[in-house]
Amino acid sequence: METFGHFINGQWLLAGELVPVINKYTNENYAMIHEADKQTVTQVIDVAKQTFEKIELTATERYEIIYNAAQIIGQRKKELANILVSEAGKSSKDALMEIERGIQTLIASAEEAKKLAGHGVALPNDSEKIAFTVRVPVGVIVAITPFNFPFNLTIHKIGPAIAAGNAVVLKPAELTPIIACKLVEIFKEAGLPDGLFNLVNGRGSVIGDHLLENPNVGMYTFTGSPKVGQYIKSKSGIRKVTLELGNNSPNIVHEDVADMEKAVNLCVTRGFSNAGQACISVQRIYVHENIYEQFVEMAVQQIQKLQLCSIDNTDGDIGPVISEREAIRIESWIEEAKSQGAKVAAGGKRAGSFVEPTLLIDVDHSMKVVCEEIFGPVITIQKYSSFHEVIERANDTTMGLQVGVFTSNIRNILYSMKKLQFGGVIINNVSTYREDLMPYGGVKNSGVGKEGPAYAIQEMSEEKLVVLDY
Ligand code: SIN
Repeated sequence: METFGHFINGQWLLAGELVPVINKYTNENYAMIHEADKQTVTQVIDVAKQTFEKIELTATERYEIIYNAAQIIGQRKKELANILVSEAGKSSKDALMEIERGIQTLIASAEEAKKLAGHGVALPNDSEKIAFTVRVPVGVIVAITPFNFPFNLTIHKIGPAIAAGNAVVLKPAELTPIIACKLVEIFKEAGLPDGLFNLVNGRGSVIGDHLLENPNVGMYTFTGSPKVGQYIKSKSGIRKVTLELGNNSPNIVHEDVADMEKAVNLCVTRGFSNAGQACISVQRIYVHENIYEQFVEMAVQQIQKLQLCSIDNTDGDIGPVISEREAIRIESWIEEAKSQGAKVAAGGKRAGSFVEPTLLIDVDHSMKVVCEEIFGPVITIQKYSSFHEVIERANDTTMGLQVGVFTSNIRNILYSMKKLQFGGVIINNVSTYREDLMPYGGVKNSGVGKEGPAYAIQEMSEEKLVVLDY
């Protein structure tokens, strides 16, 4: 069985308590990781800091290394996708799609390395001086990454951080650390000097504070729950943070929707891809009363076509959720909604860590399945009568990452753009729509800062002013 420790200065250090990584299909031990202690965390951050101070790569060197890493991944797609199937419980097609996305995110990050630049500053009252800015790396960046897209969301942090010239310490999700362990090795093979990309393993509850309390860290970049995000913000003081947190994504389907079949298909497929474990997964669907019955009927038909994966067949549409504990929580939210009047139009059952693709109707905003983030294969549909009223209902949440709106009316489109309190408003597609190059980040409790390589590289560098006095 593979065992990983901590990747420090280009070498594996096998130290600390051993913790199993479970295969999410079989629930058997799949690999082992060592959990770091305070001393190891200090050591890894010291190495990152010393390397950052010692080694400065040119933009072209950074471009070439990141590009090489993308090429190596391209040659090992299948093997890497299989890791995602085992440790994250993905269906084979979701796993492969994530690897493909990761490659594109890396290539985009590599390209940003060559574009990073400051700009000239106008000095209207002073002809004796010239002012301009340069962009410089922050220093040591700690990346804390989630289990739901353990490859691509890690690359969204590591790619731009290295492209900007930083040294990185990665703390992968303890439920899915193996793909990250492969990634550090790939960067070494791609030519990245030792010490610029390091990794510590361990549970956030055990090693999180050691990472957060170390003064040599210049920035934290985190994807995960709002609760942990708020904790990181409270502990990081005046240092930089990027936080990508949750959402309970609304999707509005108006009576003038141009292509009803497309809207239904997207809501269903993107509500259940990755077993609904995406911050922008379709969760709250609002359908105009004139098309509600038809929409629900079509959605049920689509859901009935979806195939659950199994231990023997991962070629279906939906794998298990990340743990049986999570599946039990999701089931309990479904049961609670039922006891409050919700009706199950499709699915609703759990077996181990598999939850059937579930559609709930007759729901309202007091129910957890609507007002909180379910992070599982459950969608809800509610009826509405006025477009202005449904915008208010979509906004009635503490979160604000992405929202989808289907309408053909330009006035509704402009109204949505203006009034919806979300980081991304997607017209005629679902909240789940994401091209990795786009800016990605939320408002309200969904986080601060933007991802997407061109945006993350700005977050991960400082703009330094230079003034030249004749
Ligand atoms: C997320 O869960 O925030 C990421 C979703 C995605 O990249 O598709």
